Amino acid sequence: MTIRDNCSLAGKNTFGMDVRADHMLEWSTPDELKGQLHDIEKPFLMIGGGSNLLFMGDFNGTVIHSTISTIEIIGSTDDDVHVKVGSGVVWDDFVAWSVINGFWGVENLSAIPGEVGASAVQNIGAYGVEAKDVIDTVQTICLADGSERDFSNAECGYSYRQSIFKNELKGQYAVAYVIFRLSKAAAPKLGYGALEQEVERRGGPTLANIRHAVISIRESKLPDPKVLGNAGSFFMNPVIPSAQFDALKVSWPEIPSYPANDGMIKVPAGWLIEKCGWKGRSLGPAAVYDRQALVLVNKGGATGADIKRLADAVIQDVYSRFGITLSTEVNYI
Ligand code: EPU
Repeated sequence: MTIRDNCSLAGKNTFGMDVRADHMLEWSTPDELKGQLHDIEKPFLMIGGGSNLLFMGDFNGTVIHSTISTIEIIGSTDDDVHVKVGSGVVWDDFVAWSVINGFWGVENLSAIPGEVGASAVQNIGAYGVEAKDVIDTVQTICLADGSERDFSNAECGYSYRQSIFKNELKGQYAVAYVIFRLSKAAAPKLGYGALEQEVERRGGPTLANIRHAVISIRESKLPDPKVLGNAGSFFMNPVIPSAQFDALKVSWPEIPSYPANDGMIKVPAGWLIEKCGWKGRSLGPAAVYDRQALVLVNKGGATGADIKRLADAVIQDVYSRFGITLSTEVNYI
């Protein structure tokens, strides 16, 4: 366990914001966190890989980061395995481990930045798969009293990029471990966009081919945070009533869409933003990425306020043109 004061967060957020925290606590076992809860300064901010945060300034409180880094098979049947993964494991290391061991379920989620704890909070998703599809249990510690609480998948309240940990219970529980259920039998999911074509080009739907196809599609569209600060999708894809979608289709017959729950329609925010002329445009040191309009980037030296100014301008223009209010996927701190 380490506790540091006046700690730089520059390497702890993928936007590359050069901000500081009053304190930083890194814990590697549940007991370490429990032992410190009454002594460390509030408010708390739990971070993983910092790939979904936009710091608006220094953080006056304690940043809490798990470094629990174990991956352990805790159950196995003819059909599947239960794998208990520490919240501090880098998400893509877990995906690579699953692919090497021949377990199906997370290969479409290759190369998503961040750590395992945050995957269960954000319900990360890509190429037709979401974390909720493979999460069995989320094991947590209550920050108010140090008690342990296990949340079943149903108790996590998952929907598109949402969970109970981002809403009703926001900031109240630290994730210690996530138990995933992965399949031993081949279960390729290739329905999304160009994935099937890319997998066939590589010789068919093996775990390794799917992983490498996803990585190559992502690399072609998404900026590497080590080169250009960003937090992946800055906005969520809006989900709108079908009547509103039908009305938009009259003016924009080519508008792309995906079916969502309860007869609602999901529209790609990237398309809406591009149609407003923002793709590749800058506002000071902040820009809309030129290969995927859903991503905002720090061209160098941008502050949280610079990025927010751009986000607000984009939200305003999308609303004026389409009557849709974009919500951010990134959390402002
Ligand atoms: N599109 C445009 N212009 C753009 C971007 C997209 O017209 O600049 C349109 C195209 O029609 C394209 C469609 O949007 O076919 C969908 O684009 P893409 O496949 O790139 O996916 P997305 O809906 O923009 C979502 C996730 C991504 C995830 C991809 C693939 C959200 C907010 N984003 O993006 O997640 O990788 O699907 O599954 O749901 C992330 O969360 O950080 C992230 C990158």
